[in-house]
Amino acid sequence: MHGKTILLIVGGGIAAYKALDLLRELRRAGARVLPVLTEGGSRFVTPLSLSALAEAPVRTSLWTLEDEATMGHIALSRAADLILVCPATADLMARAAAGLADDLATTLLLATDTPVMMAPAMNVRMWEHAATRANAATLVARGVTIVPPEVGAMACGETGPGRLPELPALMAAVAAHFGEKKLAGRHAIVTAGPTHEAIDPVRYIANRSSGKQGFAVAGALAALGARVSLIAGPVTLATPAGVERIDVESARDMAAAVEAALPADIAVMVAAVADWRVEAAATKIKKGSGMPVLRLEENPDILAGLAQHPLRPGRLIGFAAETGDLLAKAAAKRVAKGCDWLVANDVSDGVFGSEDNHVHLLTGAGSEDWGKASKAAIARRLAMRIADDI
Ligand code: C5P
Repeated sequence: MHGKTILLIVGGGIAAYKALDLLRELRRAGARVLPVLTEGGSRFVTPLSLSALAEAPVRTSLWTLEDEATMGHIALSRAADLILVCPATADLMARAAAGLADDLATTLLLATDTPVMMAPAMNVRMWEHAATRANAATLVARGVTIVPPEVGAMACGETGPGRLPELPALMAAVAAHFGEKKLAGRHAIVTAGPTHEAIDPVRYIANRSSGKQGFAVAGALAALGARVSLIAGPVTLATPAGVERIDVESARDMAAAVEAALPADIAVMVAAVADWRVEAAATKIKKGSGMPVLRLEENPDILAGLAQHPLRPGRLIGFAAETGDLLAKAAAKRVAKGCDWLVANDVSDGVFGSEDNHVHLLTGAGSEDWGKASKAAIARRLAMRIADDI
């Protein structure tokens, strides 16, 4: 974000205090930040905090002669590479959608042709209200990027979508906006989806993996400039932009495709690989000749194999779906498999096929609870984390 100027509009919600951390992080990433505080925002954070962190004057009103003399609001609205509204309240979104210009924030939003990004944060009912839905749709249709709020417990005591995304997710959205290609020149292998293990030519054993999380990881790595080989089990998902997709069926096909895709700098094994395959019958098993017995054989563990491989990728990341006792099982699995990081998720509450996930990242240094978020947001955060670490 070096050399970029971000006009940060802080709206009036309890999440406003998080804008202070965001401001600091944006500056740490090299951006110049011009802060604007709405009337409501000033009830939650002070102008002094914002200007001290920005090392720039904070603007709060349309009507100060001094501000207009230094940089008028029209010039201010054009001085930035990005206008970031964080938190965006339901009211601010409604006024922006209606094209009002009744305070400095809405006037800036109306007077600009600079890209606008909004990070809404509000009570779940306000976020889900038809009026807010319509306002968000209007803003998106006009080119505003909305960073969707996360699901979780909110300050008001309710639970649901409406929480401001965590700092890394916000930073990832801004970085993605500027098209930062931190992984340019890197090759990443991602496995995704289930595998199908044939019983006979017509039947197979499968699992509930939808492939959504793995496809999102592949897309997020590609968005940061990596060359991505996505080795996908049988799923019906669109290939993310800029990703090379290799379709496979069984665990053994997947293992061979991973081997063929080496060498790589990064490997993220998201696939739910079948642990066992069947000694498959060459012809369809017919009814009437007694109960068939399926003999199982163990499949190769692709992740553990990569960890021991002479071409072991420098960053090797596994996923682990568990039901109960998540962190202890995941910590043991990270060590047993020999991967650098393990992303653990509890699948006892219907993660398969859903758009959301709740993961913990286990590194050698400990574990981090990433909270419930969309699979896309988790993928962006993981990709950014890899890019920062590599
Ligand atoms: O042992 P478990 O299946 O829980 O391990 C999950 C992790 O190991 C995932 O990253 C998965 O993609 C990987 N795995 C693999 N090959 C297998 C089984 C799991 O690569 N045969």
